[in-house]
Amino acid sequence: MLNSSDNSANEAGRWESVGKSTDVGEKQGVEFLVGSDVVAVFRQDGKLYAVDGICAHQGGPIAKGALDKTCVTCPWHGWQYNIENGENILTKRKMLRTFDVREIEGRIEIKFAAS
Ligand code: FES
Repeated sequence: MLNSSDNSANEAGRWESVGKSTDVGEKQGVEFLVGSDVVAVFRQDGKLYAVDGICAHQGGPIAKGALDKTCVTCPWHGWQYNIENGENILTKRKMLRTFDVREIEGRIEIKFAAS
């Protein structure tokens, strides 16, 4: 059941509006809290990426990590992830969830799995 006009849903999931397009500048990471999910949104070459905002190692803030192209380095102990697919750079194992993300009319929306 949806309770906000910002939300839309279909059988594949629901889109949640999380902020303004201007909230995430080029090469920046910004953390959004949506329900119980912490999501890190990055902009690289104008494109948005969204991954889990909590590091798989010990919970560091992924959005505060340094971004080098599509590689983000966790600020706590240096684990690195590919923000395109959530894989750990060293092990190639997917360790962060990734989310579809889009911009509509100046808003950033993230798609969450249907619950
Ligand atoms: S908490 Fe991210 S590398 Fe340790």
